[in-house]
Amino acid sequence: MSKVAIELKDVTKSFDGNQILKGISGEIDEGQVLAIIGPSGSGKSTLLRAVNQLAGPTSGSVVFEGQDLTKVGKQSLNHLGEKIGMVFQSFNLFPNHTVLENVTLGPRRVKKLSEEQANQEAMHYLKQVGMAEKANAYPESLSGGQKQRVAIARALAMKPKVLFFDEPTSALDPENVGEVLKVIQQLAEEKRTMVIVTHEMNFARQVADKVWLMADGQIVEENDSKTLFTAPKEAITKRFIEQVSLV
Ligand SMILES: Nc1ncnc2c1ncn2[C@@H]1O[C@H](COP(=O)(O)OP(=O)(O)OP(=O)(O)O)[C@@H](O)[C@H]1O
Ligand SMILES: [Mg+2]
Repeated sequence: MSKVAIELKDVTKSFDGNQILKGISGEIDEGQVLAIIGPSGSGKSTLLRAVNQLAGPTSGSVVFEGQDLTKVGKQSLNHLGEKIGMVFQSFNLFPNHTVLENVTLGPRRVKKLSEEQANQEAMHYLKQVGMAEKANAYPESLSGGQKQRVAIARALAMKPKVLFFDEPTSALDPENVGEVLKVIQQLAEEKRTMVIVTHEMNFARQVADKVWLMADGQIVEENDSKTLFTAPKEAITKRFIEQVSLV
């Protein structure tokens, strides 16, 4: 039996009385890669933000490490950013810091690592994503794919329990997509617990253990990736897969 890393129970999220997430329940197991796919506006980003409490749920619970995150105090949530790493579509690197500094800032400030220790660990993760040679470069001199690989190293340097990716390749030029997907694939092979919102259907199919198809604030279909892509149960899933594979 695999251990559950995160359990969602009937998570809802409303903005100004408008319900965007309409009761999401499900589990993410340790060492599992969950891909979340679905049409634009279906609530995928909202769900990630609700789970990591950047914009917590309106109702329902998110159980992580035995605690309902919707009930714990601010103090505990301060440490959540260390435990649930986040990689965004837009990289969000600090432009006035070098690649190395981008990776060491969090560990130094939050984990109070010495400069030497933080640099050593950062170089390890930069090597892992193939960016060690650019340690002293500034973000503006990097391609989108390189920036995203630095952003992944930065997330890894916090030694998170879980990594969330929100469309990590959507802002990239097509020629840069592969190098980022390759890094994420390697992380999956290390059996890291990851949740990846993506429009890359082939990637989801190959790398994800489990897929949630979201539409209109709900999980319409949950299945292992092979079944979901080859024998979808729901009409919405069929239509969605057909549509995106035509693009
Ligand atoms: N802060 C907010 N205030 C009001 N409405 C919001 C807010 N954030 C998201 N929404 C609404 O919630 C809905 C779902 O948005 P969300 O960004 O989660 O979709 P998505 O599935 O990530 O879409 P995409 O594939 O385009 O990224 C949208 O209708 C959006 O306008
Ligand atoms: Mg989104």
